[in-house]
Amino acid sequence: MSLAYAFDVKARDGKARLGEITFARGAVRTPAFMPVGTAGTVKAMFPETVRQTGADIVLGNTYHLMLRPGAERVAELGGLHRFMNWPRPILTDSGGFQVMSLSSLRELTEDGVTFRSHLDGSEHHLTPERSVEIQRLLGADITMQLDECVALPCPDEEAERAMLLSRRWAERSKAAFGSDPARALFGIVQGGTVEALRVRSAEGLQDIGFDGYAVGGLAVGEPQDVMLATLDVTVPVLPEDRPRYLMGVGTPEDMLLSVMRGIDMFDCVMPTRAGRHGQAYTRFGRINLRNARHAADPRPLDAESDCPAARDYSRAYLHHLVKAGEILGAMLLTWINVHYYQSLMAGIRQAIGEGRLPDFAAQTQAEWARGDI
Ligand code: GUN
Repeated sequence: MSLAYAFDVKARDGKARLGEITFARGAVRTPAFMPVGTAGTVKAMFPETVRQTGADIVLGNTYHLMLRPGAERVAELGGLHRFMNWPRPILTDSGGFQVMSLSSLRELTEDGVTFRSHLDGSEHHLTPERSVEIQRLLGADITMQLDECVALPCPDEEAERAMLLSRRWAERSKAAFGSDPARALFGIVQGGTVEALRVRSAEGLQDIGFDGYAVGGLAVGEPQDVMLATLDVTVPVLPEDRPRYLMGVGTPEDMLLSVMRGIDMFDCVMPTRAGRHGQAYTRFGRINLRNARHAADPRPLDAESDCPAARDYSRAYLHHLVKAGEILGAMLLTWINVHYYQSLMAGIRQAIGEGRLPDFAAQTQAEWARGDI
């Protein structure tokens, strides 16, 4: 196999694309869902099980790993793939978004962001150059530029300021990354929900030139129709021959509707976080296992699933585990959810390949709407 990073679009259905990203560590079939492995673990899952659900790539976080155990420590131990026993591709987020959501006493300047750790209050400084360096130490296959993501709704001037700062940071990230045919650097489009800002951002990033383009700053408080309208004006400005990654999204429906607008990659804590809170994502929509209606129900969540956790355990048992706060409850539900997300993406890929994505979408949405019967 070639050592170089490459992206290949194999089929199209409307705006949706079926593709493959290749790395020395393996191929990523797109549209892809990347389970979130923030701190070097997809919480409550073995890496082998993550792989068995069909995941080709997982996400790691600069912010968490720089604070604990430290990027230099991970590098000394052979890099993040070896550290977490995930030999396949890894994308790392750059840290900016997590600094904004998790740390305290942040100070943002042209140079970068200074913040206090949410773990021990220690002070840290992250610049575009240091973020790229940390991601190199971790051994990321896909490095994300440092960016600033503003919460929505926000004034247009604020969205413009953050977009322009992110663009200057994109240039510095590219200079720091240099060129490395085996690894990819992605730029991040910002600009709030303002069409003109999104277009300027997307065009500005292409002038710099990236291996892939992420759409950031969405699913941060805006309604779904606003997010989709923003994709409608952003995706057409992105190049055809590079992967497009919608960051931090989303629900199964968000992903389906975004694929139909030309998005190729997703990540979200939803399936893993919901699994630790007693929620299951299934073909029949989201099911709350805490609900008393499951207490005496001998049926599995989905008898036809090829996920053992969805097939071989009764709803009554899952309800019991969740109510009792048992670790196995979180493990089984996380497995069910990540499996469902991966099987949805597999279904989407097959439908694009066969030119029947609209039918697949209508059927899938009808099943979600029918609910758990
Ligand atoms: N994760 C979700 N949204 C974003 C974003 O806008 N930027 C970054 N870096 N990560 C994200």
